Amino acid sequence: MQRKIKIIGTGSALPPRIITNYDLEKILNTSDEWIRERTGIRERHIVACPITSPASDESIATSDLVVESTKIALRDAGLGVKDLGAIIVATASPDTIYPSTACWAQKKLEVPGIPAFDISAACSGFLYGLELASALIESGRYRNILVSGAEVMSKIVNWEDRETCVLFGDGAGSVIVDKAQDDRGIISSYLGADGTLGELLYQPAGGTRMPASQETIDKKLHTVHMKGREVFKYAIRTMGDSALRVLKEANLTSDDIALFVPHQANLRIVEATCERVNMPMERTHLIIHKYGNVPAASIPLTLDDALRAGRIKRGDLLLFTAFGGGLTWGAMVLKW
Ligand code: ACO
Repeated sequence: MQRKIKIIGTGSALPPRIITNYDLEKILNTSDEWIRERTGIRERHIVACPITSPASDESIATSDLVVESTKIALRDAGLGVKDLGAIIVATASPDTIYPSTACWAQKKLEVPGIPAFDISAACSGFLYGLELASALIESGRYRNILVSGAEVMSKIVNWEDRETCVLFGDGAGSVIVDKAQDDRGIISSYLGADGTLGELLYQPAGGTRMPASQETIDKKLHTVHMKGREVFKYAIRTMGDSALRVLKEANLTSDDIALFVPHQANLRIVEATCERVNMPMERTHLIIHKYGNVPAASIPLTLDDALRAGRIKRGDLLLFTAFGGGLTWGAMVLKW
């Protein structure tokens, strides 16, 4: 049954420094050709990396990007910070393990009192956040919930590991969610996870499982570790099957969808997912070439970019699907 919950404002924030594949050639045994052909990525916005030119404000934390994108989303919704009812931040690269990035953003937004918390579901985190926000609004106790997907991956990747560091980018996409007064809103949604596959994609050290020590630092166990080829296969299967499931639940087919917004970890994953869902590539909006994989921020950044490019109009049916560390996955159909 359609839920009367809709996105009423969107905003994006990207750190100013852009690192191209050619820049990476200078510090890694890699090439523009390899990265482009295997992933579709040409450049990405980066806060901190061993390439120091052009200069960047390396003090930028994930919450700074949450705040910047939230201010734009609030303006877009015609609201002020005092109208916010709750803050949910989805991130795989939090400011600190605790307090949550949402609490740090709340401090900077100067809006104490309302609930603020993070969601840890890696690249699927934004969809987890939207689902939760919609349930909170349906409860009748909350309005105008901020859901932000935000990452500063550049501070948690190993810049000596060419198999991971070339893939990620930094940025944030924020949306404000509220009750819908008309027939627009979330039509169907689905979330899933399989914790038995956690070690395919994770940050081994820094928590209670493997606390920080000289050894964990020397072995760079605080950085992203990934079994890329296996993750690749699960990504296609889970994103595709989740998308088909929410379409079926909504009594729709891919032909009804005006814009498909899959999480963008790799262009080849997007292409294979489109094939599985029977969706022409022209009905996706791509950002991976310019932003790389921005885990929890990928879907809200794509949504905001597509809106600003005029690719979404009122009444369009949108299909989101995501996959990430956990493993986690999910999908959602919305009427815009
Ligand atoms: N530059 C040059 N060569 C490279 C690079 C690089 N940056 N990275 C790997 N290679 C080499 C490998 O060493 C390997 O060499 P070998 O054949 O001599 O052993 C060769 O390229 C092929 O490596 P593969 O791993 O088979 O390459 P593949 O085509 O699978 O692409 C990739 C690797 C891009 C990582 C792909 O597997 C992928 O995208 N996986 C999914 C990633 C993903 O979805 N991550 C989600 C994470 S987000 C989150 O939840 C936090």
